[in-house]
Amino acid sequence: MTGTSVDHEIELAYVGIEVPDPASLDGFFGEVIGLLPGDAPHSWRNDRKARRVIVERGEANDVSFLAFEAIDAEAFDRIVARLRSAGFAAVDGEASARNVSRIVQTTAPWGASVEVVLGLEDAATPFESPLMPGGFLTDGVGFGHAVFATTSFDESHRFLVEGLGLCQSDWLEMEVVEGIELEVRFYHCNARHHTVALARAPFDLPQKLHHLMFETNTVDDVGAAFDRAWATDLGIPNGLGRHDNDGMFSFYVASPAGFQVEIGHGAKVITEPWDQDRRYDKISAWGHQALR
Ligand SMILES: [Fe+2]
Repeated sequence: MTGTSVDHEIELAYVGIEVPDPASLDGFFGEVIGLLPGDAPHSWRNDRKARRVIVERGEANDVSFLAFEAIDAEAFDRIVARLRSAGFAAVDGEASARNVSRIVQTTAPWGASVEVVLGLEDAATPFESPLMPGGFLTDGVGFGHAVFATTSFDESHRFLVEGLGLCQSDWLEMEVVEGIELEVRFYHCNARHHTVALARAPFDLPQKLHHLMFETNTVDDVGAAFDRAWATDLGIPNGLGRHDNDGMFSFYVASPAGFQVEIGHGAKVITEPWDQDRRYDKISAWGHQALR
């Protein structure tokens, strides 16, 4: 990463997805996105860590948990104390179930379990994916980002900022069609422009998880992933384009479970002091048209 590095306490560790048939996402994560199988059935990795996406059987058809890894024991203790002083529970969990050394669990106001962990285990082998030869950008920034839609927008903002200690990077406010406003707020906890974003939902949507993002190290790996997605019959809600705020060159493919995955490259890096927390009024500088 370039720029003045940000002092950071946490990074995105892993995400849990609950679907009726976990095998229904195997081809999507393995052959379209280019992740490698993790150390548990239907779990996936995008770097040296043993697991980054954990797909489990259940009826939710949505995100079930999201975990943040503390960079050391002191950071872990600070986050637990911060959660509690902000009025959020932080209950000891079962560390062995996640192959971590410490874990606390809380519930995000958008309705998913959130875990703070220490010591996320490395995989036994290096990350080498023939479909993603350049690999993914995760060092010091976690596996990617996650975007949720919620009717509990203000409390979710407070949870991220006062509870977990994330900082707002910027926000998007625009009229998508006459009378319908879109508001999305973007939050960082390290050099990645945003690790979590929240969209204000006008009513409860079928899924809280809008998308997961994986950032590649090379621009060609975005193009090759687009080719693979295009060769399927999966929806492409947004073709190649560049976001206005984080500057990421990316596209979005709809997973068989409905939530989307963004594959991108070249996003803006957070540097300190961060003085670019401002409103944007368009999602994309160019592109990102709905293709199918
Ligand atoms: Fe995104």
